Order: sequence, then structure tokens, then C-alpha cells
Amino acid sequence: MPVSLPPALELSLDLLCCPTCRTRRLQPDRGALRCLVGHTFDIARHGYASLLTGTRATSGDDSAMVKARDRFLSTGAYAPIRKVGARLTAGAVSEPATVVDVGCGTGYYLAGVLDQLPGARGLGLDTSVRALRSAARAHDRAAAVAWDIFRPFPLADGVADVVLNVFAPRNPAEFHRVLRPTGRLIVVRPTVRHLAELRGRLPAMVAIDPAKEQRLHRALDPFFEPAVTEWVEYPAPLTGLDALDLVAMTPSARHLSRADLTDDGFLPDQVTVSVLATAYRPR
Ligand SMILES: C[S@@+](CC[C@H](N)C(=O)[O-])C[C@H]1O[C@@H](n2cnc3c(N)ncnc32)[C@H](O)[C@@H]1O
Ligand SMILES: [Zn+2]
Repeated sequence: MPVSLPPALELSLDLLCCPTCRTRRLQPDRGALRCLVGHTFDIARHGYASLLTGTRATSGDDSAMVKARDRFLSTGAYAPIRKVGARLTAGAVSEPATVVDVGCGTGYYLAGVLDQLPGARGLGLDTSVRALRSAARAHDRAAAVAWDIFRPFPLADGVADVVLNVFAPRNPAEFHRVLRPTGRLIVVRPTVRHLAELRGRLPAMVAIDPAKEQRLHRALDPFFEPAVTEWVEYPAPLTGLDALDLVAMTPSARHLSRADLTDDGFLPDQVTVSVLATAYRPR
């Protein structure tokens, strides 16, 4: 039996364009989306639209990472980050707003934004099939679409009021193209202090390059200027399982054995959470 059109996808269908021929308006057609020319894309039974066909994306979280992220986020340890994302978004838009979360993962931050904006609709893009399954269920008004950030987005020009980008890769030119001139890009990224206690003990864990801020600025500068920045930093207590999930949700987990990690006293029982969240105005 064909998959019916998920309500959140129906709500956001007018934002999409065909990734193959770029024509606007994808129409639902027996469990798929079809453009006027006839290019067809499946709607997965898990509720997301598979617009990413052909060559596989070069990056994206695997199933173990997504499960760990889902469990860790459900502890509430990153709730203050979710709040700041929602606050910056709510301060930037008037309803009804369209929020596109690029590299949405499980949809945790997008759902936080939509909770604050009862009239808004959201759409999350990610390459990870496992993440998209969660994202498609994250909120009644959040659609999920399989897409690679490094390719031109399957979205029409100027349709988004907010582009959200939390701990994820970036494509500044595409962020700019899909935003309305009055829209905002909201970027959340770690500072060098983020999870420092964990990084100190796990050399395989990817370090945060101090030059990263400069690189971010250089990459965004041709398209955006910063409007507001909030710095969020706090200690987060961790159970042993939380600490394991925090490691498992990063690519460094591939280099570590569970036996290494479960050695008594190896993992910290508290970490510093430290992020910057900036709202940027398009130039
Ligand atoms: C660190 S996670 C952050 C996820 C989510 N924003 C959050 O903070 O919970 C990075 C996300 O970017 C996605 N990602 C990585 N490379 C990507 C790409 N080329 N295109 C789309 N998504 C990508 C991963 O699958 C993952 O969900
Ligand atoms: Zn087409």
C-alpha cells in the first residue's frame, strides 16, 4: 500500500523544488513526490521525503551515533541550548514563520523552536536516514527531507524566515538563497571549552580548533552579518551512561572500545557545556 502524505510534509510542500530539474511544486503521487517533468522521489514509510537520490552523501551520522544522540538529548542536558535557539528564532520572526533546520539530526532543536511558535512550520534536512526517522516524528509541524548540505538545497528561493544550523555542516550561499531578505540565519556551535573534560581524557575525540570562529566568520561574511550573539555555558552532571552516549554521538566513538570507556573513573561525572549562538542578518 502506498505511503500516505505525512501531514507535516503536506504543510511544507510548497517550499520544495525538484532537485533534478529545479521546477517548483512537487505533487504527492501514490507514496511519492513527483515534479511536473516526472522526476519521482519516495516518501519513506518512516515519514520523511527521500529527495537525495543517486550518489551518496560523503557525511552523515550512522545509526549508533543517532541513537546515542537521541538518548543523550532526552536527558535534558542540552535543554538550555534548545531554549536559546528557540529564543533567538522567536525574536527574529513574526508568525506564521517557516523554519528550515539544516543538519537537523533528530529534530530536537527544530521541535523546540516550533513549540515556541504555534503558527510556524518547520522542515529539517539531513543525510542520515536514522536521524530523519526521528526528525519526521519530532513535531506535528516538522517535515523531514533527506538532503546533502553541500548540494543546492531542494528549496525555492527566499522561502525561509529562519535557517537553523546547530552543530552541523554549513552551506552559506544556499542559506542565503533560501532565506527571505528579512530572515535570519541562526548558527549554534561549540566554543573551545565545550566538553573540555571529556576531550582531555579522550585523545581520539575531535578537538575544537581555536581558529574555527575565524573560519566561520570568513565563510559567512560574504553573505551575512551578525546581529545578536548569545554565549551559553554551564556545568552538566553526567551519569556513566550519559557520558558513554556523549562519546558515542561523536565520530570519535569509532576509535574507542567500550572496555576503554567503562574503566572506573575514566569518564568525567560532569562536563562544561559551552556554545555560541548567533543570529545573522542576510546582506
Ligand atoms: C553533530 S550532528 C547535529 C544534529 C542536530 N543539529 C543536533 O544538534 O542534535 C550533525 C548532523 O549533521 C548531519 N550531516 C552531516 N553531514 C551532512 C551533510 N553533508 N548533509 C546533511 N546533513 C549532514 C549528520 O547526519 C548529523 O545529523
Ligand atoms: Zn524534476
